Amino acid sequence: MHVVSPELNEYMLGLLPARDAVRKELEEYARERNFPIVGPLVGNFFAQIAALIGARRIMELGSGFGYSALWFADALPEGGEIICTDGDGANRERAEEAFRRAGVADRIRFHTGDALTLFAGIEGDFDLIFCDIDKHGYPDAFHAAWPRLRPGGVLLFDNALWSGRMLEGDESPDTRGVVELNRLAFSTPQCRASLVPIRDGLLLCTHQSG
Ligand SMILES: C[S@@+](CC[C@H](N)C(=O)[O-])C[C@H]1O[C@@H](n2cnc3c(N)ncnc32)[C@H](O)[C@@H]1O
Repeated sequence: MHVVSPELNEYMLGLLPARDAVRKELEEYARERNFPIVGPLVGNFFAQIAALIGARRIMELGSGFGYSALWFADALPEGGEIICTDGDGANRERAEEAFRRAGVADRIRFHTGDALTLFAGIEGDFDLIFCDIDKHGYPDAFHAAWPRLRPGGVLLFDNALWSGRMLEGDESPDTRGVVELNRLAFSTPQCRASLVPIRDGLLLCTHQSG
Protein backbone atom coordinates (compact mmCIF):
# COMPACT_ATOMS: atom_id res chain seq x y z
CA MET A 1 0.00 0.00 0.00
CA HIS A 2 1.39 3.41 -0.93
CA VAL A 3 1.24 6.03 1.84
CA VAL A 4 1.58 8.69 -0.85
CA SER A 5 0.65 7.95 -4.45
CA PRO A 6 3.77 7.48 -6.63
CA GLU A 7 2.61 10.38 -8.81
CA LEU A 8 2.31 12.79 -5.88
CA ASN A 9 5.59 11.55 -4.48
CA GLU A 10 7.32 12.32 -7.80
CA TYR A 11 5.65 15.71 -7.86
CA MET A 12 6.95 16.55 -4.37
CA LEU A 13 10.44 15.28 -5.18
CA GLY A 14 10.46 17.45 -8.28
CA LEU A 15 9.92 20.56 -6.16
CA LEU A 16 13.01 20.01 -4.03
CA PRO A 17 16.22 21.86 -4.85
CA ALA A 18 19.08 19.68 -6.15
CA ARG A 19 21.06 17.94 -3.42
CA ASP A 20 24.81 18.34 -2.87
CA ALA A 21 27.22 15.74 -4.26
CA VAL A 22 27.58 13.83 -0.97
CA ARG A 23 23.82 13.38 -0.53
CA LYS A 24 23.38 12.44 -4.19
CA GLU A 25 26.04 9.75 -3.86
CA LEU A 26 24.47 8.32 -0.70
CA GLU A 27 21.04 8.29 -2.39
CA GLU A 28 22.57 6.41 -5.33
CA TYR A 29 24.42 4.01 -3.01
CA ALA A 30 21.15 3.30 -1.15
CA ARG A 31 19.22 2.80 -4.39
CA GLU A 32 21.78 0.32 -5.76
CA ARG A 33 21.66 -1.76 -2.58
CA ASN A 34 17.98 -1.30 -1.80
CA PHE A 35 19.03 0.18 1.56
CA PRO A 36 16.22 2.07 3.31
CA ILE A 37 17.21 5.70 3.90
CA VAL A 38 14.71 8.42 4.78
CA GLY A 39 15.17 10.11 1.40
CA PRO A 40 15.21 13.82 0.56
CA LEU A 41 11.56 14.70 1.35
CA VAL A 42 11.88 13.42 4.91
CA GLY A 43 15.43 14.78 5.20
CA ASN A 44 14.25 18.22 4.19
CA PHE A 45 11.44 18.00 6.77
CA PHE A 46 13.94 16.95 9.46
CA ALA A 47 16.14 19.96 8.73
CA GLN A 48 13.06 22.18 9.05
CA ILE A 49 11.93 20.66 12.35
CA ALA A 50 15.44 20.83 13.83
CA ALA A 51 15.75 24.48 12.79
CA LEU A 52 12.25 25.34 14.10
CA ILE A 53 13.04 24.12 17.61
CA GLY A 54 16.67 25.32 17.50
CA ALA A 55 17.91 21.77 18.16
CA ARG A 56 21.45 21.75 19.57
CA ARG A 57 21.71 18.16 20.78
CA ILE A 58 20.35 15.41 18.54
CA MET A 59 20.31 11.64 19.08
CA GLU A 60 19.84 9.18 16.25
CA LEU A 61 18.93 5.54 16.89
CA GLY A 62 19.70 3.61 13.68
CA SER A 63 21.84 5.93 11.55
CA GLY A 64 22.71 3.64 8.63
CA PHE A 65 25.49 5.34 6.66
CA GLY A 66 24.67 8.82 7.82
CA TYR A 67 22.18 10.16 5.28
CA SER A 68 19.53 11.29 7.78
CA ALA A 69 22.20 12.78 10.08
CA LEU A 70 23.47 14.94 7.20
CA TRP A 71 20.06 16.62 7.04
CA PHE A 72 20.01 17.28 10.78
CA ALA A 73 23.52 18.70 10.45
CA ASP A 74 22.13 21.33 8.04
CA ALA A 75 20.17 22.88 10.89
CA LEU A 76 22.69 22.50 13.70
CA PRO A 77 23.92 25.76 15.24
CA GLU A 78 27.55 26.40 16.15
CA GLY A 79 28.49 24.19 19.11
CA GLY A 80 25.65 21.72 18.49
CA GLU A 81 26.16 17.95 18.29
CA ILE A 82 24.61 14.87 16.74
CA ILE A 83 25.14 11.41 18.18
CA CYS A 84 24.66 8.58 15.68
CA THR A 85 24.31 4.88 16.42
CA ASP A 86 24.22 1.79 14.26
CA GLY A 87 24.83 -1.92 14.71
CA ASP A 88 27.00 -2.21 11.61
CA GLY A 89 30.61 -0.96 11.68
CA ALA A 90 30.74 -0.74 7.87
CA ASN A 91 27.90 1.81 8.01
CA ARG A 92 29.90 3.83 10.51
CA GLU A 93 32.94 3.95 8.22
CA ARG A 94 30.86 5.04 5.25
CA ALA A 95 29.03 7.63 7.38
CA GLU A 96 32.22 9.12 8.78
CA GLU A 97 33.65 9.46 5.28
CA ALA A 98 30.45 11.24 4.17
CA PHE A 99 30.54 13.55 7.22
CA ARG A 100 34.17 14.48 6.45
CA ARG A 101 33.39 15.20 2.82
CA ALA A 102 30.34 17.26 3.80
CA GLY A 103 32.44 19.26 6.29
CA VAL A 104 30.34 18.32 9.33
CA ALA A 105 32.51 15.61 10.95
CA ASP A 106 33.45 17.89 13.86
CA ARG A 107 29.86 17.92 15.16
CA ILE A 108 28.85 14.27 14.74
CA ARG A 109 29.87 11.30 16.89
CA PHE A 110 29.07 7.79 15.71
CA HIS A 111 28.84 4.76 18.06
CA THR A 112 28.58 1.15 16.92
CA GLY A 113 26.44 -1.43 18.74
CA ASP A 114 22.86 -1.88 19.87
CA ALA A 115 21.30 1.59 19.68
CA LEU A 116 19.23 1.33 22.86
CA THR A 117 22.15 -0.04 24.91
CA LEU A 118 24.37 2.77 23.63
CA PHE A 119 21.65 5.35 24.28
CA ALA A 120 21.33 4.18 27.90
CA GLY A 121 25.05 4.81 28.36
CA ILE A 122 25.00 8.37 27.01
CA GLU A 123 24.20 11.06 29.56
CA GLY A 124 21.84 14.00 29.33
CA ASP A 125 18.69 15.07 27.56
CA PHE A 126 18.13 15.85 23.90
CA ASP A 127 16.36 18.50 21.85
CA LEU A 128 15.55 15.98 19.17
CA ILE A 129 15.63 12.18 19.06
CA PHE A 130 15.14 10.31 15.80
CA CYS A 131 14.54 6.56 15.77
CA ASP A 132 14.94 4.33 12.71
CA ILE A 133 16.02 0.96 14.19
CA ASP A 134 14.38 -2.41 13.44
CA LYS A 135 10.68 -1.84 13.90
CA HIS A 136 10.09 -4.53 16.53
CA GLY A 137 12.30 -2.37 18.77
CA TYR A 138 10.14 0.75 18.41
CA PRO A 139 8.08 0.36 21.63
CA ASP A 140 11.27 -0.05 23.72
CA ALA A 141 12.77 2.91 21.88
CA PHE A 142 9.73 5.05 22.73
CA HIS A 143 10.00 4.12 26.44
CA ALA A 144 13.73 4.94 26.38
CA ALA A 145 13.51 8.17 24.41
CA TRP A 146 10.37 9.92 25.69
CA PRO A 147 11.75 10.68 29.20
CA ARG A 148 14.95 12.07 27.69
CA LEU A 149 13.48 14.90 25.65
CA ARG A 150 14.06 18.38 26.98
CA PRO A 151 10.90 20.51 27.34
CA GLY A 152 9.91 21.58 23.83
CA GLY A 153 11.88 18.74 22.29
CA VAL A 154 10.77 16.50 19.45
CA LEU A 155 10.77 12.72 19.10
CA LEU A 156 10.56 11.32 15.57
CA PHE A 157 10.13 7.78 14.24
CA ASP A 158 10.39 6.79 10.59
CA ASN A 159 8.12 4.21 8.88
CA ALA A 160 5.26 4.87 11.27
CA LEU A 161 2.70 4.09 8.55
CA TRP A 162 4.75 1.03 7.49
CA SER A 163 3.22 0.79 4.00
CA GLY A 164 -0.14 0.07 5.64
CA ARG A 165 0.89 -3.47 6.64
CA MET A 166 -1.12 -3.14 9.88
CA LEU A 167 -4.28 -2.83 7.76
CA GLU A 168 -3.47 -5.96 5.78
CA GLY A 169 -3.47 -8.48 8.63
CA ASP A 170 0.33 -8.58 8.98
CA GLU A 171 1.17 -9.84 12.47
CA SER A 172 4.97 -9.86 12.12
CA PRO A 173 7.05 -8.56 15.06
CA ASP A 174 7.99 -5.45 13.06
CA THR A 175 4.40 -4.60 12.21
CA ARG A 176 3.30 -5.22 15.79
CA GLY A 177 6.16 -2.95 16.87
CA VAL A 178 4.89 -0.09 14.70
CA VAL A 179 1.28 -0.60 15.88
CA GLU A 180 2.33 -0.58 19.52
CA LEU A 181 4.53 2.48 19.00
CA ASN A 182 1.64 4.47 17.55
CA ARG A 183 -0.69 3.30 20.32
CA LEU A 184 1.86 4.36 22.95
CA ALA A 185 2.49 7.74 21.38
CA PHE A 186 -1.20 8.60 21.13
CA SER A 187 -2.03 7.39 24.65
CA THR A 188 0.93 8.59 26.72
CA PRO A 189 -0.07 11.46 29.01
CA GLN A 190 1.47 14.77 27.93
CA CYS A 191 2.48 13.36 24.56
CA ARG A 192 1.00 15.11 21.53
CA ALA A 193 1.48 12.87 18.53
CA SER A 194 0.97 13.33 14.79
CA LEU A 195 1.39 10.90 11.94
CA VAL A 196 2.85 12.85 9.05
CA PRO A 197 2.25 11.08 5.73
CA ILE A 198 5.54 11.80 3.97
CA ARG A 199 7.16 8.77 2.27
CA ASP A 200 6.43 5.83 4.66
CA GLY A 201 4.96 8.02 7.41
CA LEU A 202 6.66 9.86 10.26
CA LEU A 203 5.55 9.83 13.86
CA LEU A 204 6.20 13.20 15.49
CA CYS A 205 5.84 13.51 19.27
CA THR A 206 6.05 16.61 21.43
CA HIS A 207 5.24 17.41 25.06
CA GLN A 208 1.84 19.03 25.43
CA SER A 209 1.98 22.11 27.58
CA GLY A 210 -0.71 22.79 30.18
C1 LIG B 1 16.54 2.25 8.00
S1 LIG B 1 18.22 2.14 8.28
C2 LIG B 1 18.69 3.73 8.83
C3 LIG B 1 18.74 4.75 7.77
C4 LIG B 1 19.13 6.12 8.24
N1 LIG B 1 18.32 6.57 9.37
C5 LIG B 1 18.93 7.10 7.10
O1 LIG B 1 17.77 7.41 6.80
O2 LIG B 1 19.93 7.50 6.50
C6 LIG B 1 18.21 1.27 9.79
C7 LIG B 1 19.61 1.09 10.38
O3 LIG B 1 19.44 0.75 11.73
C8 LIG B 1 20.37 -0.23 12.09
N2 LIG B 1 19.75 -0.94 13.21
C9 LIG B 1 18.59 -1.63 13.23
N3 LIG B 1 18.29 -2.03 14.47
C10 LIG B 1 19.31 -1.58 15.26
C11 LIG B 1 19.59 -1.65 16.64
N4 LIG B 1 18.75 -2.25 17.49
N5 LIG B 1 20.71 -1.06 17.08
C12 LIG B 1 21.55 -0.43 16.25
N6 LIG B 1 21.34 -0.32 14.94
C13 LIG B 1 20.24 -0.89 14.45
C14 LIG B 1 20.63 -1.05 10.85
O4 LIG B 1 21.95 -1.54 10.86
C15 LIG B 1 20.42 -0.02 9.74
O5 LIG B 1 21.64 0.53 9.32
